[in-house]
Amino acid sequence: MSSGLDAGNEAPDTAAATAAGAAEDGYAPSYARSLRDPEAFWLEAASLVDWDTAPQQALDESGAPLYRWFPDGYLNTSYNALDRHVAAGRGDADALIYDSAMLGTTRTYTYNQLLAEVETFAGVLRGLGVEAGDRVIIYLPMIPQAVIAMLAAARLGAIHSVVFGGFAPKELAARIDDARPAVVVTASGGMEPKRTVEYLPNVADALAAADHRVNHVVVAERDGFAHTAQEYNGAHGTAWHDWDELAAGASPAGPVSVAATDPLYILYTSGTTGAPKGVVRDNGSHAVALAWSMRNIYDVGPGQVMWTASDVGWVVGHSYIVYAPLIAGATTLLYEGKPVGTPDAGAFWRVADEHRVDVLFTAPTALRAIRKADPDAALMADYDLSVLRTLFVAGERLDPETFAWAGRALDIPVVDHWWQTETGWAICANPMGLEQLPIKAGSATVPVPGFSLAIVDGQGAEVPPGEEGNIVLRLPLPPGTLTTLWGSDDRFRSSYLEIFEGCYTTGDSGYVDEDGYVFIMGRTDDVINVSGHRLSTGAMEQIVATHPAVAECAVIGVADSLKGQRPCGYVVLKTGTELGVEELRADLVKLVRESIGPVADFKDVQVVEALPKTRSGKILRKTMRQIADGDAYTVPSTIEDPGVIDALVPLLRPGG
Ligand code: COA
Ligand code: AMP
Repeated sequence: MSSGLDAGNEAPDTAAATAAGAAEDGYAPSYARSLRDPEAFWLEAASLVDWDTAPQQALDESGAPLYRWFPDGYLNTSYNALDRHVAAGRGDADALIYDSAMLGTTRTYTYNQLLAEVETFAGVLRGLGVEAGDRVIIYLPMIPQAVIAMLAAARLGAIHSVVFGGFAPKELAARIDDARPAVVVTASGGMEPKRTVEYLPNVADALAAADHRVNHVVVAERDGFAHTAQEYNGAHGTAWHDWDELAAGASPAGPVSVAATDPLYILYTSGTTGAPKGVVRDNGSHAVALAWSMRNIYDVGPGQVMWTASDVGWVVGHSYIVYAPLIAGATTLLYEGKPVGTPDAGAFWRVADEHRVDVLFTAPTALRAIRKADPDAALMADYDLSVLRTLFVAGERLDPETFAWAGRALDIPVVDHWWQTETGWAICANPMGLEQLPIKAGSATVPVPGFSLAIVDGQGAEVPPGEEGNIVLRLPLPPGTLTTLWGSDDRFRSSYLEIFEGCYTTGDSGYVDEDGYVFIMGRTDDVINVSGHRLSTGAMEQIVATHPAVAECAVIGVADSLKGQRPCGYVVLKTGTELGVEELRADLVKLVRESIGPVADFKDVQVVEALPKTRSGKILRKTMRQIADGDAYTVPSTIEDPGVIDALVPLLRPGG
């Protein structure tokens, strides 16, 4: 196996490899076949999961441009993640390892044990009236109950929607109103390195702010937190229950057979406006795509440990902490902790050693945090990482320095792969199970089978290799990708499908080199990536603009050496405002924190005389971002007053 650092710059010409008929099971033939004959390709992949009714048809094009996969198939996702492994005699194999750096504890669940917990909690949900198609919101920290609640909802054919714990009550309320859940499942709280986060007051505030009435809240009670379910019981007409008490009286629930096309979950993600988009994932194609990816991308199966150091609140956590490793019959690791500070920058290596992790998946920002604290990776020497064979990263661009550092320190392939909440799995990757391709620093390697990728200019015309443009995916998207946005096919169409004819618009820009390698360069919209967390600057602007002293504002994401990007607000004050800059900054930071949540990490505010605008009034955010990042910038000829840019440069680019 070649090391990520040693792999050099040689890369296959994928088109040529296909024509030459490379190894039958290699990347190029597989990729070509997936596009030439998707029907056969995905029906074959469908055999990786267990069906109640096996599909006879792969693609349903009748609703194009909204496609469905496996329209005649029936299955249960929780059955595929649990029961089938038990039925195959692997009930004593480890399914889930929970390692809490916060508590200093570890707990392992075998497939038998995890199934028992899930059956019971599915019984709890059923007892509260949850049926197939009902929504269940899950607002939980990184504890086993998060995995159990997701699989329990899936068991009943209910639709879960997990909300990341770093979001504020208002964001939770927006999701409650959109998803209209029957039940909210939560815990007493989560643990951050310097504080605990009490969840119950947040949930109570969200319920008070939401128009939709939730009938039941189930609370996984944890030691060390101030509030209990009992305290809130009855408030806003909602019954609050203790998880353990309900579980003690529940009868186990079996898996409900659902159509492959029925929704499994809704996961909200940031768009360009303040209203989050509810990405809908189905049951059948999701299970097939993830099972295929475990074999062909991650190369992980039964008896192996996959550790995805993300959060169940993000898509990476949904797919590779919860569903994919379990569908594949592997062992998954749930880590409650941070890369640094819990207690030190050796935390990841401690966990990888202690639990014999085969494959680790994390975000570049976590590696940058470790590198900053331990530049020579000296803490790694304390641990045996001989089992670890691949490091996957995603969530944001993997900068070449971090790539080189990780490869050097670990001496294993470091695989950058690119994906989005919408796609649910990697669009571009080095398919380690299919064929390990040479690695190029800065590239997410090649399109994954099923994804037909093109780079187009603003008019939709394909650009030559090496030229940057909009990255689009020709329809249909493969299994596992979003089927629509919750409650709005129209928004799905207008946000993604109607920008470039016949294509899904990713919102990312990038280029493909002569060898077919894809380089992701950044977003084309107002979405930013802070510590691998996807956030909307548009949403932050809407909040900043509500402050009484603010006449107008722009929030842009500027480059940050640790977090990838960080949001900065530029504010024009109303005439006559007497508020000091520090006071204003404190107000705005508080406002964003209370509205979006601490995860927004909004801390930088600058007061400016004016914002640069076009004559039609559009704020030149891209130019501002280029100036702030020290990049070459272009000032559009349509600018209203070029003097505004001159005045901004010293502020945006202090010290030059
Ligand atoms: N619940 C409540 N608050 C949370 C939270 C959660 N689940 N996650 C983060 N926050 C809070 C933090 O406590 C922090 O609050 P503060 O402003 O009071 O300190 C704020 O949100 C920002 O947190 P974070 O983005 O984690 O920054 P950090 O400076 O605390 O840590 C890193 C920096 C790089 C160590 C951290 O961001 C990290 O581990 N990143 C990896 C992220 C990741 O895995 N993303 C996966 C996406 S694929
Ligand atoms: P999310 O939906 O939160 O997973 O964020 C998706 C966005 O993160 C993508 O549209 C990209 O902008 C960015 N992203 C994810 N993975 C990568 C990667 N490997 N390289 C560059 N950007 C990435």
